[in-house]
Amino acid sequence: MSISLRRDRAYVNGQWVTAPDERVFAVHSPATGELIGSVPDLGPGETRDAIESAERAWPAWRARTAKERSAVLRRWFELIMEHRTELAALMSRESGKVITESLGEIAYGAAFVEWFAEEAKRAYGDVIPPYSSDRRLVVIKQGVGVAAAITPWNFPLAMITRKVAPALAAGCPVVIKPASETPLTALALAALAEAAGFPAGVYNTVTTSDNEGVGSELCANPAVRKLSFTGSTAVGRQLMAQCAPTLKKLSLELGGNAPFIVFEDADLDAAVRGAVQSKYRHNGQTCVCVNRLLVHRSVYSAFLERFAAAVADLRTGDVLDPQVQVGPLISEKALAKVQAFVEDAVAHGARVVQGGTRIGGLFYAPTVLADATPAMRIAHDEVFGPIAPVFVFDTEAEAIAMANATEYGLAAYFFSRDVGRCWRVAEALEYGMVGINEGLISTELAPFGGVKQSGLEREGSRYGLEAYLETKYLCFGGV
Ligand code: SIN
Repeated sequence: MSISLRRDRAYVNGQWVTAPDERVFAVHSPATGELIGSVPDLGPGETRDAIESAERAWPAWRARTAKERSAVLRRWFELIMEHRTELAALMSRESGKVITESLGEIAYGAAFVEWFAEEAKRAYGDVIPPYSSDRRLVVIKQGVGVAAAITPWNFPLAMITRKVAPALAAGCPVVIKPASETPLTALALAALAEAAGFPAGVYNTVTTSDNEGVGSELCANPAVRKLSFTGSTAVGRQLMAQCAPTLKKLSLELGGNAPFIVFEDADLDAAVRGAVQSKYRHNGQTCVCVNRLLVHRSVYSAFLERFAAAVADLRTGDVLDPQVQVGPLISEKALAKVQAFVEDAVAHGARVVQGGTRIGGLFYAPTVLADATPAMRIAHDEVFGPIAPVFVFDTEAEAIAMANATEYGLAAYFFSRDVGRCWRVAEALEYGMVGINEGLISTELAPFGGVKQSGLEREGSRYGLEAYLETKYLCFGGV
């Protein structure tokens, strides 16, 4: 079954809609600057319509058996995989993600749909031994209700499916506000959701350039019972405050400042591979990308030399070329921020070992900075770009203290071959996810999420379904 994925309308209440005044906004490729398409610029009023249609659709959707909901999700998964080549090309064009990574993201994003199609059938409750012989105590799980998803541009498909697949599995209709940089992939996904058979109102996609107006409506509207957001900590704080009056359930996947520790007993070649994979995934534009490399003094020079050589080999260029590994930054603003980080680091004594320059358009050379120190902005702020600052440490305790010296707590990584140290360090790191001798750890099977100011709740895995379920206690008397 072939479905047309190029949509120039938003998807609300089972209809492909325009804005009432026909207003649209343009989507450009960050790689080439070309105009790729335009989509409706909906506002708070149309968002309200989408929420109302989701609310109307809720009773019938939650009344379906888990197995029936599972079948629709399974069909959606199959359709995504059948259309992966076309989806990946669209994603690369609108987000600047290199094509091999876009193909990887389609598989990653579809895996959440497949996983939650299965988990839909496992929203188990409990039977509690009663406190009195004439009572029976039971716990049931029920979907929370209309769920809103505000999703980022760096994973135009997977961040949608990671949020809405568990919601739909739990019986919750969804209203999605995709990033204004990448609405076309989101609409392609909506086309596939429609073809999979979600009933009208269960799956809505509101495209907009009015992030604040639409975001405020999703937060303030009492019919929305749950908000899930992936993005910066600053915006997460604002959304949390806006959700306070209606006490919404929240899942927040926010910023990171991931340390990558290389101990003196590490396999250096494996550490270099892990660091390159983690640092330069989507050109450093993921929340779990390495932000700081902390390397033991005794292996500092050897690691730096091998790491810089591996970074020098990374190929930049046409994002649709399967040989290319690193694409552009998402915007001029992002590029300027990366440049400012490098200038600040150099002004504070960092040495540019590799890269350190713009290389045309929105491309910045994959960069390695040696002799980084806590005085540099790069030590504290999320970089979201292709710069790898390398710090030195002398003891395990110092490495742990440096790693934890941040308000963030999303992902951390370390390399060591000492099993005792692996346990000690894994337990001491104040992070929601830890990669041990591994630089890429994201999967639908495991809980993704952070501690401290990196967010609330978990996505993926069985924990991801819990985030869309209420726990209800039933007490049967007079038995
Ligand atoms: C993100 O950067 O927000 C998500 C990264 C991932 O899922 O691996």
